[in-house]
Amino acid sequence: MSAIPGNKGGAAAPHVELRRVTKRYGVVTAINDLTLTVEKGSFTALLGPSGCGKSTLLRMIAGLERISAGQCFLDGVDVTDVAPAKRRIAMVFQSYALYPHMTTRQNIAFSLSLAGASRKEQDERTHEVARILQLEDYLDRRPAELSGGQRQRVAIGRALVRHPEVFLFDEPLSNLDAKLRVQMRLELAKLHATLHATMIYVTHDQTEAMTLADKIVVLDRGRVAQVGSPLELYNRPANKFVAAFIGSPSMNFLPVGLTAVEGGIATVALPGGRTARVRVGGAPAKAVATAELGVRPEHLSLVVADDANAALRGEVAIVEHLGNLTLLYVDTPAGQVIVEGPGNVSVRSGDTVGLSLREANARLFGADGASL
Ligand SMILES: Nc1ncnc2c1ncn2[C@@H]1O[C@H](COP(=O)(O)OP(=O)(O)OP(=O)(O)O)[C@@H](O)[C@H]1O
Ligand SMILES: [Mg+2]
Repeated sequence: MSAIPGNKGGAAAPHVELRRVTKRYGVVTAINDLTLTVEKGSFTALLGPSGCGKSTLLRMIAGLERISAGQCFLDGVDVTDVAPAKRRIAMVFQSYALYPHMTTRQNIAFSLSLAGASRKEQDERTHEVARILQLEDYLDRRPAELSGGQRQRVAIGRALVRHPEVFLFDEPLSNLDAKLRVQMRLELAKLHATLHATMIYVTHDQTEAMTLADKIVVLDRGRVAQVGSPLELYNRPANKFVAAFIGSPSMNFLPVGLTAVEGGIATVALPGGRTARVRVGGAPAKAVATAELGVRPEHLSLVVADDANAALRGEVAIVEHLGNLTLLYVDTPAGQVIVEGPGNVSVRSGDTVGLSLREANARLFGADGASL
């Protein structure tokens, strides 16, 4: 191991850094020239669809997967060729296999006993972990006698007991039912607040990423699509991929013609004849004639069909009452759009409605998917 030239003392170095990392499996490029920094004590989520390379990335940080090209640094030290056991990193896997014949106590202490820790040290550390994870009452039970959430906490306890500096979580909650997932999400947030440890958390669930992370890294086919805080990604997606991935139900995309761009405002022609004015960044090429207008369901609202402010008109195809809100699928000249209305709307399928558009929240995307 050697310090990076020019990095004095490493005090300001990120806790985890990947530099131009590529991972190939034969002809498959799972990670493609990816650079990423993770600050000490931060909670970073790696978010992306199945197969985009999330687990591969995590396993490379843990040292479980060889890097084909590029480097991995911990605290400014190149660990690209350092064995996993020497990295002070603990990983919680998606399919956490607890030893079925061992009690909670034995499962948690197992890695310590392997490492040759004394009985006393094993006991002390196991109790410390059990206290943090509120498992004290379950220390003598076997996994079959625990609930899903308790088992999940034992799996986290096995990582915690090693006093790692970096926690890697690979979709740790995906086996749990929806209610337990929400509960465990809160517990993980508390754990992070208590330990101040660096956590990198893989998920394809954008709600988990949005609620837990201070920084989200969205991956698209082995590359970084965007890095930012949850609200940055939500409000200012850099491209259509991120815009579509963050937010539920997903953003609507409407084909539009660009008629003018002036003073940072683009005027677009909507299918059906109306126009809208949308803010654009930088200086979008005037040559861009067509674009897609991205509008989130909550930025469309129902108005009467002949309302002068209606940007679109359409026929309601499906109404979904969720109690606190209503989702309406409306067939318009721009295709079917999803509209989020209040819980008590009285609209029915087959009704003709107008939709007004909150222009300040709409985004424009060019043909290559980049935000204009
Ligand atoms: N050992 C392997 N050999 C060949 N290809 C692999 C191997 N491991 C992963 N891949 C491929 O690399 C790509 C990334 O896989 P990875 O497991 O990192 O995806 P992921 O984002 O974790 O997906 P998921 O959300 O489904 O877990 C996929 O196309 C996968 O098929
Ligand atoms: Mg995976």
